[in-house]
Amino acid sequence: MASFQNPPLDIRRLSQKLLVMLSVGIVCMYLFYIFAACCKSEVTKNSDLSYDRSVSVTGWNHERNGTALRDASPSGGSAALALEANSSGKDWTASRRFPHALIIGVKKGGTRALLEFLRLHPDVRALGSEPHFFDRHYARGLSWYRSMMPKALDGQIVMEKTPRYFVTPETPARVRAMSQDIKLIVVVRDPITRAISDYTQIVSKTPGVPSFESLAFKNGTAGSVDALWSPLHIGLYARHLERWLAHFPPAQIHFVHGERLVHDPAGEVGRVQDFLGLQRIVTDKHFYFNKTKGFPCLKKPEGSSKPHCLGKTKGRLHVRVQPEAVRKLREFYYPHNLRFYQMAGMDFGWQ
Ligand code: A3P
Repeated sequence: MASFQNPPLDIRRLSQKLLVMLSVGIVCMYLFYIFAACCKSEVTKNSDLSYDRSVSVTGWNHERNGTALRDASPSGGSAALALEANSSGKDWTASRRFPHALIIGVKKGGTRALLEFLRLHPDVRALGSEPHFFDRHYARGLSWYRSMMPKALDGQIVMEKTPRYFVTPETPARVRAMSQDIKLIVVVRDPITRAISDYTQIVSKTPGVPSFESLAFKNGTAGSVDALWSPLHIGLYARHLERWLAHFPPAQIHFVHGERLVHDPAGEVGRVQDFLGLQRIVTDKHFYFNKTKGFPCLKKPEGSSKPHCLGKTKGRLHVRVQPEAVRKLREFYYPHNLRFYQMAGMDFGWQ
């Protein structure tokens, strides 16, 4: 009855109650919002992992970007960095990831050709330049390395090529410290042709260097082979491979036959696609043989509709080397090649 007797007081109380309820409601909504935001960021952090475990276009397991990655920076390990590899923040659909595969060698083996061919694949994102992270720029740390990588969508394979990795002793352990299940590709070619190709490049950059024969042998062709001369040392494939096999199982290393890459590019690239768990999308129809260049070229390279051959420094005429020098080098490499065939489980047929 009091309310009827004193209506303004009652309305005031009612409005006070309403105000309190409204305030409580606002606070609740705010708390709910904060809670929801927290959950969302957790989901984003783990998004790579959850996606990786589900079906991907390539069937490639990206888990290595998260749990298997370790901080290989000289400053020490960091779990935070490994997690960061997954927490791509707002840009989680296309982010910079650590490579899933590396073309580690060999110089003058056909590494550029292979990379350009693989780039035609929609599920491959490859760095165009050679980052030289594990051999030269390791002190810059993994964050720097990842920042060099092209952005990739979930399910795409990120790659880079640095042919010097194959021959630098410290590289295998460093790569392993980053990822133990990374896939490694080595393009190999007859070590003698490779050495002559290497020397041809040296001459083109430094005219007037001594002859191939005088650098390859300690006392002209009559003397012993100078196996420490870089163009010859790189061709000791078994020795270099031994170091990689101390850190990675053979199944994680794929060899591309450099000579076959020229004569049957689709076949070689097909095997690489299999190794990477990719669909065979790059096939015969992507190549044509350019008679003037004497090499296979691309009908439509990545990002262009015009046919394209590799540049002048790829597939050039070699300097002439005395047959006697070649014969001696053949003898020299024979046991090394045999050992390499055994280790690689494949006869490359370099006679
Ligand atoms: P040559 O220039 O001695 O012929 P890399 O890219 O690792 O430096 O290797 C260069 C070599 O790639 C070339 O050496 C060439 O033989 C080989 N190669 C393979 N396929 C090629 C292609 N389609 N076009 C040009 N060079 C190719």
